[in-house]
Amino acid sequence: MKKIAVIGGDGTGPEVVNEGLKCLKAVAEKIGFKYTTREFDWGGDRYLKTGEVLPSDFAETLKNFDAILLGAIGHPDVKPGILEQGILLSLRRALDQYINLRPVKLYPGVETPLAGKGPEDIDFVVVRENTEGLYVGSGGFLRKGTQGEVAIQESVNTRMGAERCIRFAFDLARKRNKMNKVTLCGKTNVLTYAWDLWERTFHEVGAAEYPDIQRDYAHVDATCMWMVKNPEWFDVIVTDNIFGDIITDLGAVIQGGMGIAAGGNLNPEGVSMYEPIGGSAPKYKGKGVINPLAAISSVQMMFEQFGEIEASDMLEKAIMEVITQKMKSMAAGKMGMSTSEVGDCVVEAIRKM
Ligand code: IPM
Ligand code: MN
Repeated sequence: MKKIAVIGGDGTGPEVVNEGLKCLKAVAEKIGFKYTTREFDWGGDRYLKTGEVLPSDFAETLKNFDAILLGAIGHPDVKPGILEQGILLSLRRALDQYINLRPVKLYPGVETPLAGKGPEDIDFVVVRENTEGLYVGSGGFLRKGTQGEVAIQESVNTRMGAERCIRFAFDLARKRNKMNKVTLCGKTNVLTYAWDLWERTFHEVGAAEYPDIQRDYAHVDATCMWMVKNPEWFDVIVTDNIFGDIITDLGAVIQGGMGIAAGGNLNPEGVSMYEPIGGSAPKYKGKGVINPLAAISSVQMMFEQFGEIEASDMLEKAIMEVITQKMKSMAAGKMGMSTSEVGDCVVEAIRKM
């Protein structure tokens, strides 16, 4: 019996998570997967009411679960940063979700802005380090508010952090068995401390433990260029927190947009959290126009990490069927159906299997 925590969060988060839960239920009924869910009201509304971003025992509470499904965090009435830092980044850190796994996969029938590229060209995974780098909140001000103001923002990189992330990427490349290649995406030519550590770790770990996996390197700026020009060159990309943040927005766009991009904040030895990566889209809240497929795909990622491969394959097949046979577009308001109708179609496709 798996225990799943559900944090709908802000904006359209609860709507899309709802559709994810519908599909979870349909697959579970089909294959006999046993689970329970518990909802948490953490997000902007609760913060505005109580002044608290998270209860003090949030980490202890969540450690009792097997996984977390997250909708989105970000509220128009709350100053940017408070909820993102206070909830999303706190959860990633407290649960040591050191991998942010973001597949970039173009499904047949989905429109990509890349001319001349199709599903056979766009199918790679970004492994983003998720607890270190520029995201640790290290730094400070000197003479704040004066003409002589200094702001320092430090990137913290540990051997342990880089190593576990790199090892995860190599393992994934082996598991995918596609091109058997890992590309390190960095900036060794300028950021000579952080990327020296990453590069040495990459080659040491790769040479010693993964001789069967090809090691490739690209600077982050060049990675952006190749992702547009030759996305078929990539299999698994491993990178740090900030570069991973940036290149996965580009990745989301080439796979058809934020409506379809899912990600997993993974602690392979602990509690992982799955989310659509599109954000809370407050202007669409309650309108029933947002695409829930990213949230549904995040449920699929959860199945995969649980080792429930039949469930994961079934859900992915249903998603692909609905894309090719029912939906007009992946964009909010242009799907040719409502948010809940998309969920219903996926459920129907599962039931028919
Ligand atoms: C993401 C988001 C977050 C990040 C923000 C909301 C803190 O952009 O999950 O990619 O930068 O990690
Ligand atoms: Mn981001």
